[in-house]
Amino acid sequence: MEKQKFKIIKGMADILPDHAEKHKLPPISYWHWLEAALRKLMRAYSYDEIRFPILESTSLFKRSLGEETDVVSKEMYTFLDGDELVTLRPEGTASCVRACIDAGMLRNQQMQRMWYLGPMFRREQPQYGRYRQFYQLGAEVFGLPGPNIDAEQIKMMANLWQELGIASAVTLELNSLGGVAARARFKQDLVAYFSNHEDKLDSDSKRRLIVNPLRILDSKNPELRELISMAPKLTDYLDIDDKQHFEQLLAELDLLGVAYKVNPYIVRGLDYYNRTVYEWTTDKLGAQGTICAGGRYDNLSEHLDGPITPAVGFAIGIDRVLLLLQAMDKHPNTSIDGYLICVGQAAEAQTLKLAEMIRQSCPGMSLLNNYTGGGFKQQFKRADKSGAKLALVLGDDELQQNTVTVKFLRSEREQQTVSMTNLAEFLAVAGFLG
Ligand code: HAM
Repeated sequence: MEKQKFKIIKGMADILPDHAEKHKLPPISYWHWLEAALRKLMRAYSYDEIRFPILESTSLFKRSLGEETDVVSKEMYTFLDGDELVTLRPEGTASCVRACIDAGMLRNQQMQRMWYLGPMFRREQPQYGRYRQFYQLGAEVFGLPGPNIDAEQIKMMANLWQELGIASAVTLELNSLGGVAARARFKQDLVAYFSNHEDKLDSDSKRRLIVNPLRILDSKNPELRELISMAPKLTDYLDIDDKQHFEQLLAELDLLGVAYKVNPYIVRGLDYYNRTVYEWTTDKLGAQGTICAGGRYDNLSEHLDGPITPAVGFAIGIDRVLLLLQAMDKHPNTSIDGYLICVGQAAEAQTLKLAEMIRQSCPGMSLLNNYTGGGFKQQFKRADKSGAKLALVLGDDELQQNTVTVKFLRSEREQQTVSMTNLAEFLAVAGFLG
């Protein structure tokens, strides 16, 4: 048979182990690091995980995100499955609402807090930070209309940036879109304004003027900046309740010490939003600087024939956060904890059993047993090269006395011989466990 070489599909990436050479996105240890931090965060705020399919009925996304949005009109991977049109999910909010309605989880105004993590698919023009298969962590809360949950979600993210060490590079911009009536009035005036200046619009904005005029405000074209700055502002059209909701949100953020900028031009690219919308951006990733975005979507459940349910959520672009970590020289801790050194006939003969004993008494510790033998010096060299933080030395003396000698490979600290039964406690106190 003729040989054939296969290349990865455009806009997709392999996530390789750390030791592999070619990386388009950060290697697997970065993913594990971020995913672990996210799971911890979700637990701390009492969110439960939900998993839903990658494939959904196309009309779910059309109805939820809006037919005229870029995502639905240009970017979805859609195909016929028998006689049904199905789509690879471009985002998770629509599926999450669909799944909750299906399961009766939104009945009787139940409150739900959920998160999901996984691949999303959009057929965009690939570039640094923009992929056709990308990963999101999404979080959605149902049943709470007040702005305090909006503020809590924003604070959650602020905490994450802090923990990852990237807080100094991200900024929060937010806006209120108000309700349906306010937006309709605003849209009318906006169309009138841009129609009067149609000669100044670029071709993309001319198209948007017909299909989705609010998105003109999102334009990145510097030549349109002045025209946009003179356009009507949505903030001037908000109802009194919408205004109060937004002001209360800002007050909560002040109380929590979260810095933000109100940006009246944030409209978001999906149609389901109302009231709160926001974006976390960085200037360290070039054009694809939005690393997290979200907002309120109080009408979506009803729009999908579910119960009337206030809702708010956000999604983090995992790929972009990882690129930012890399750009800021933040590295996951990939070194192993301990390297087992067995010297002497009796200890070497029992090396397997001794390693198991250590693993059992110190759960969570990563221990490397190389089985390569050799003298103490040779083994010690190997331990150092492995990157391990500690060498655990077992010689015949230690064996007889049921002890182990702990050598600190990355500090000047003096070695210490510890009883095997106290090893876990000793390592925990020394800051190597838990
Ligand atoms: P979104 O703004 O479309 O919102 O996407 C959220 C984040 O996903 C973006 O800020 C970005 O970091 C990342 N992202 C989007 N497209 C790509 C891409 N092609 N390549 C890499 N990263 C990308 C949503 O998806 C909403 N479902 C968020 C939400 C949840 N709103 C309420 N609940």
